[in-house]
Amino acid sequence: MEPMDLGDIVLCPREPVAFVARPWNGRGGGKDLRGALPSARRMVDVTLCTVPELPDGSMRHYEHIGYDLLLANVGGTFYCVDAACTVGWDDLAQGSIDRDKKAVVCPGCGGLFSLETGQPLAGPGKFPLNVYEVHVVGDEVVVTFVY
Ligand code: FES
Repeated sequence: MEPMDLGDIVLCPREPVAFVARPWNGRGGGKDLRGALPSARRMVDVTLCTVPELPDGSMRHYEHIGYDLLLANVGGTFYCVDAACTVGWDDLAQGSIDRDKKAVVCPGCGGLFSLETGQPLAGPGKFPLNVYEVHVVGDEVVVTFVY
């Protein structure tokens, strides 16, 4: 994912921080915005599908404003995490679900990531996936997407 460039301000796609695109030059020519922005984090509720569209034991890749999301249904509970493996960026939606561990198995080299916490449980993964809150509203599966 590329950082979002808003002119002088660059929003990091992974962390709720903003960077000043121009380096501080010590003569007042640049702006140090640290602390000036209340938060660069945005939250939005997004309906990804309806309940019948994602049956128990299945998962699917979704894209929302350029972000890749994985939505999975395990035993009637919906989970949403980043769709890209943190090891080799493989599409986790092409992998499989480990029902017992409530985890997704990466199709790349078999890394296991918890759908509940995003943490790597086995394999080469060292960094977790982002986890997003999921609510079922009526028959719609709604994800609170944070970016
Ligand atoms: S690419 Fe995902 S675990 Fe290796």
